[in-house]
Amino acid sequence: MKVGLLTGGGDCPGLNAVIRAVNQRIHNSGGSCIGILEGWRGLIKCQTRELPISVTEEIISRGGTILGSSRTNPYKRPEVDLPALRENFAKLGLDALVAIGGDDTLGVANRLHNDFGMPMVGVPKTIDNDLNVTDFTFGFDTAVNIVIEAIDRLRTTSESHRRVMVVETMGRQAGWIACFSAIAAAADFAFVPEVPIEMDRCIEVLKRRRIEGKNYGIVVVSEGSKFPNQDEMTLTGKTDDFGHVQLGGISAIVADKIEKATGFETRSVVLGHIQRGGAPSAYDRVLATRLGLHAAELVVQKNFGRMVALKGTKIIEAPLKDGVSNLKNLDLDFYKEASVFFQ
Ligand code: F6P
Repeated sequence: MKVGLLTGGGDCPGLNAVIRAVNQRIHNSGGSCIGILEGWRGLIKCQTRELPISVTEEIISRGGTILGSSRTNPYKRPEVDLPALRENFAKLGLDALVAIGGDDTLGVANRLHNDFGMPMVGVPKTIDNDLNVTDFTFGFDTAVNIVIEAIDRLRTTSESHRRVMVVETMGRQAGWIACFSAIAAAADFAFVPEVPIEMDRCIEVLKRRRIEGKNYGIVVVSEGSKFPNQDEMTLTGKTDDFGHVQLGGISAIVADKIEKATGFETRSVVLGHIQRGGAPSAYDRVLATRLGLHAAELVVQKNFGRMVALKGTKIIEAPLKDGVSNLKNLDLDFYKEASVFFQ
């Protein structure tokens, strides 16, 4: 059995752990894996690499993906790219393909399975934790740990200068990273995309805290947060192959409003791609490994058009379409719990 492996979309810590796990499990059953480079682009262009066990046995601690990634969408130019992709799949002699990605990558895997019966298995990933079906995605825990380490550092400089620091996190239209980071790093306030920005409440909290003796402030803002009655933030004006707008920059606007309303010196920091970099946490290594092993199991059973997911503490399987139908917003119970400290 020959199995193709690809990683698509934004990278995240834990991708290599999945590659290692799938490769080992397939190897144990007498098969082999081949790496498709840079997501769907690698299948369109037939760019691959061999994956002997020696290549993957120690990659669990490495961030990013040894296969490279891209946001290539073969359905954007279907008349050219789909025939090439299918031809290369046959040419490589693949019996199955494990696609590791977010809603876009898994959405393509689902369509290829439905449109052409291609043998696809999906593994969900994203630092944003916004995929349906799965309780948590690997990469998220590492990203939150990176954010809280950054906030711990920003706290000391903010305190020294008696400043307010507005920290912008990733997460697209879901506030998971911002909310978890705000709880774990004791932020004074947090804005998430699921709740329209309440500027007045935030300003009131920051002013009250000064009166009470706290001479600095930490505000977390998720990149997709919106002011009341505002559509998606399009500060950069750029979109990717899947039509998603490139986010970023809301923290500067929030910082400006805070400074003007309070008179407190305020700075903004966009944490950006640092949240996706470096070694995965222990939690993400274990979760990614378990998902990879179960995905390989689906391949061995020839159970295609399926994806693996985390439910509670168990790895389950589900139709690929379930994972890509809707994005999973932040569960507002978490925001309510975080808000107890925004007083
Ligand atoms: O989906 C993961 C993510 O990191 C988002 O949080 C962020 O908005 C986006 O990817 C950034 O994408 P890019 O790496 O293409 O700039």
